[in-house]
Amino acid sequence: MVSKALLRLVSAVNRRRMKLLLGIALLAYVLISVYSFLLNRSIQENGELKIESKIEEVSLFSIFVSILSVFTQKYPPVKFLSEKDRKRILITGGAGFVGSHLTDKLMMDGHEVTVVDNFFTGRKRNVEHWIGHENFELINHDVVEPLYIEVDQIYHLASPASPPNYMYNPIKTLKTNTIGTLNMLGLAKRVGARLLLASTSEVYGDPEVHPQSEDYWGHVNPIGPRACYDEGKRVAETMCYAYMKQEGVEVRVARIFNTFGPRMHMNDGRVVSNFILQALQGEPLTVGSLTRLPFFSSDLVNGLVALMNSNVSSPVNLGNPEEHTILEFAQLIKNLVGSGSEIQFLSEAQDDPQKRKPDIKKAKLMLGWEPVVPLEEGLNKAIHYFRKELEYQANNQYIPKPKPARIKKGRTRHN
Ligand SMILES: NC(=O)c1ccc[n+]([C@@H]2O[C@H](COP(=O)([O-])OP(=O)(O)OC[C@H]3O[C@@H](n4cnc5c(N)ncnc54)[C@H](O)[C@@H]3O)[C@@H](O)[C@H]2O)c1
Repeated sequence: MVSKALLRLVSAVNRRRMKLLLGIALLAYVLISVYSFLLNRSIQENGELKIESKIEEVSLFSIFVSILSVFTQKYPPVKFLSEKDRKRILITGGAGFVGSHLTDKLMMDGHEVTVVDNFFTGRKRNVEHWIGHENFELINHDVVEPLYIEVDQIYHLASPASPPNYMYNPIKTLKTNTIGTLNMLGLAKRVGARLLLASTSEVYGDPEVHPQSEDYWGHVNPIGPRACYDEGKRVAETMCYAYMKQEGVEVRVARIFNTFGPRMHMNDGRVVSNFILQALQGEPLTVGSLTRLPFFSSDLVNGLVALMNSNVSSPVNLGNPEEHTILEFAQLIKNLVGSGSEIQFLSEAQDDPQKRKPDIKKAKLMLGWEPVVPLEEGLNKAIHYFRKELEYQANNQYIPKPKPARIKKGRTRHN
């Protein structure tokens, strides 16, 4: 009876009564607690448990939780799409840096999004604002294992992306990019979905041509420390085109250049995170001689969606063609942070490409895409995010230090 009355109360909710109802809900909670305390005591005293009382207790508590969630759960605004236009979209690696921004975009556009992630480098915090939304689902799953779901499009992003992460367990990186990609192509074939592979500029290796256009075949060391990632992605591309030619699967391949933005990894070992972290912590900014410049995550997400919905099945570069010296870049971050850090020069890590610059003529021509977020604007957003993360982590007694990319010593886990 009490349950029914509370349910009627909830259905009568309007926003102006929210505070009043929240108060009532809290009062109800206190009453329920007192009630269950008395109930427990009487059970102990009588030495017997009535199942009906237990059920009543649980249902009262779940009603209280649902009342609270009505008031506290707020989602970002989502467009309404008719059944015909709404797609069921799978994002592998959707709890990572790029995947979570892509999730935001596709959710806000009104699609149904399923995120599949094994949380190796991703985290629930990146997508927690969607948990409970009727269009959203989060599945803890490793793409190295097959997956059976019904979808219209697959954005296949699952793979560690930064050198320390992909070198941590090279065999797993290879399995994720090869077996994982095979599994997703198998799924795409089975359900007739279109698959977009998040490939990388690393397929060009240490390039001998500058800038790199999509018809350049690359210059990769197949046995170097980065090969697990570079060659893994090259094979993943090969698999996409084999499935396209042999099985008629629709594929899209984005060759992504360095990207930055909120939710990127603090310790990813690349220039943006290193410089921002060093500048915020008043440590010297350690500079190599590289010239590649990153671009902002929202530009990348727009490029990925444009590519997915285009009819371009050959690989497309998505990146920032602007060139600055790395010294200018370090100076810019130092100024934006307002830091007094010095700038120090370092030698390069093994096989780190010396020059990288995307030729984005194809993306401009075929997708009408190019990066539009000014570098300073993007950097300010990333700096704001890093500042908040440092505060958050300091409260939890953890201060990250930027680390140069290196191979983990000793045996690693293979799974
Ligand atoms: N960020 C960049 O600058 C950049 C550049 C080039 C290419 N890319 C590609 O874009 C994609 C996303 O990169 P990111 O920067 O968001 O990296 P990220 O590490 O933040 O995200 C990768 C996600 O994949 C998940 N993942 C890894 N292995 C998995 C597995 N076996 N099964 C399920 N999930 C798994 C991770 O937990 C994480 O959530 C990657 O494929 C990467 O290679 C990124």
